[in-house]
Amino acid sequence: MTQTFENKIALVTGAARGIGRATALMLRDRGARVVASDISETVHELSGNGIVTLTGSIAEEETALRSVALARYTFGGLDILVNNAGRTMNRPLIDMTVEDWDGIMAINARGTFLHAREAVRAMIKGDGGVIVNVASIVAQVAMKDTAVYAASKGAIAQLTKVIAVEYGGRGIRANAVAPGVIETDILEGIVQDSRATLASYGSAHPLGRVGQPHEIAEIIAFLGSSASSFMTGTLVTADGGFTAL
Ligand SMILES: NC(=O)c1ccc[n+]([C@@H]2O[C@H](COP(=O)([O-])OP(=O)(O)OC[C@H]3O[C@@H](n4cnc5c(N)ncnc54)[C@H](O)[C@@H]3O)[C@@H](O)[C@H]2O)c1
Repeated sequence: MTQTFENKIALVTGAARGIGRATALMLRDRGARVVASDISETVHELSGNGIVTLTGSIAEEETALRSVALARYTFGGLDILVNNAGRTMNRPLIDMTVEDWDGIMAINARGTFLHAREAVRAMIKGDGGVIVNVASIVAQVAMKDTAVYAASKGAIAQLTKVIAVEYGGRGIRANAVAPGVIETDILEGIVQDSRATLASYGSAHPLGRVGQPHEIAEIIAFLGSSASSFMTGTLVTADGGFTAL
């Protein structure tokens, strides 16, 4: 099903590449006006034709404030927040430093909280809205060497439910998506021989392959649209069957 986002205003974090970029372009191509943010300057490549861009770390309160303000002053409000930006870390627990823990939690958990808070503040002044948080299957199942990443994604999954319960009565829905392994640059640093490892990751999914960014963008678009109007507080898995094993 293809949704239409005419007259909708969206904010997508981590939009410079990967899942965020695919989502920002998909929402724009389906009629939304989009604020695309990222820590990377390359996000500015998306600027124009219904997309405005800004740079900053999602871990900073100021970035959340600026992003929501840009949506309000440029386009007149905010209807959809896609909390997508994130970083991963593959490290055994016993080798992890306090800085490792705090760094990932500040981006994935605090950044998601800050943007959700500012979005909800804006949405309750308007006609409500929709939040889509990008979690991971490691919020549901354990994989070794993912301690802080998994904890941060578990936090996102639970934050999503609380937002849904706390603000459902104010016309705000909140859902999360839990992707399996998706072929994006986030896999750099986890893998040395990317082809061989992508193939081995792929074979761990019953569909026999890893996912592509547009396949997660489709789920995000569905959750951000009125097609999912009775869904809130859910974690939607899109993992090629990985967690069914
Ligand atoms: N690719 C996967 O296998 C996979 C699986 C499950 C969940 N996810 C999640 O999907 C989301 C998108 O990841 P992706 O796979 O597209 O990765 P990616 O690395 O291709 O894209 C992530 C984007 O986030 C941006 N970013 C990183 N730190 C930031 C910060 N502090 N402030 C603002 N922007 C920042 C990066 O610059 C980048 O553009 C992440 O939350 C990730 O945890 C990815």
